[in-house]
Amino acid sequence: MGERGRVTQTLPDIIGDRNIDVIYSCGPMAMLAAITEITSGTDVIHQCAVEESMACGIGICMTCVLPVKNQDGSTSMLRSCIDGPVMDGSDVQWDMVGHLPEASL
Ligand code: FES
Repeated sequence: MGERGRVTQTLPDIIGDRNIDVIYSCGPMAMLAAITEITSGTDVIHQCAVEESMACGIGICMTCVLPVKNQDGSTSMLRSCIDGPVMDGSDVQWDMVGHLPEASL
């Protein structure tokens, strides 16, 4: 639509200029995290199709788990293949992606 560059460069202006309710995204995980950061603190919902590696695709191998925030503040490792792949970006704990959460005792 006439803009060159990363979507994250122009997205704040688009959100500010238009009546945006929901953003649907897919692409690199770093971009999804950046879009979530842009939409945090706004009323805009960010639905993203996560790009986590998937081996089995049917919920058995656990290679596709992502840390997702529960309503009580705890973290669950959800399987992207069967719990997603579309997730609410504000629920994904992007800073923990690729790391194991600390075990709760
Ligand atoms: S790809 Fe195997 S559990 Fe998701």
